Amino acid sequence: MPPPDPATFRAAMANLPTGVTIVTASGPDGPAGATANAVCSLSIEPMLMLACLDRGSRTLLAVQAADRFGVSVLHKGQEPIARSFATKAPVAEKWAGVEWSERDGVPAIDDALVSLACDLRDVLAAGDHVIVTGEVTALETTEGDPLVFHGGVFRPLD
Ligand SMILES: Cc1cc2nc3c(=O)[nH]c(=O)nc-3n(C[C@H](O)[C@H](O)[C@H](O)COP(=O)(O)O)c2cc1C
Repeated sequence: MPPPDPATFRAAMANLPTGVTIVTASGPDGPAGATANAVCSLSIEPMLMLACLDRGSRTLLAVQAADRFGVSVLHKGQEPIARSFATKAPVAEKWAGVEWSERDGVPAIDDALVSLACDLRDVLAAGDHVIVTGEVTALETTEGDPLVFHGGVFRPLD
């Protein structure tokens, strides 16, 4: 096998379908949030979530400052939100026009399939990303189909 390079690595891992979330945190100037698919459940007892955030993510700074974070799992109709939160637009612009509410002290996207609130536990440097884990303090679910990211595009499950 040839030695891998970053572009090949990225293209290879695009074959792994994932759900799409918005990782959120409350800041002094309002909510912060980033589209993230490097997110998963980590432990059941205790209930822990894991998210990987780029070192340059403004949301990472907000998560660390708040010591809490939220995860909203998007449904298939929320692709515009996924696109908007994947940008470096001014943070307030990302939230303009988005229906959201604070649940257990963290911002949550209204109508998301799952909304979780977490107390920040671990912050682990890992390459160009930082792994954060958090203990789940609140969760809410609704019925619906997930938004999926696969092959570099957003798509419904079907
Ligand atoms: C489908 C998709 C998944 C993404 N997953 C992640 C992720 O898991 N972690 C991350 O740090 N950035 C991820 N990004 C990129 C961030 O959304 C992007 O860098 C964003 O501008 C960060 O915003 P912030 O600086 O306001 O936190 C993803 C983008 C897309 C389109």
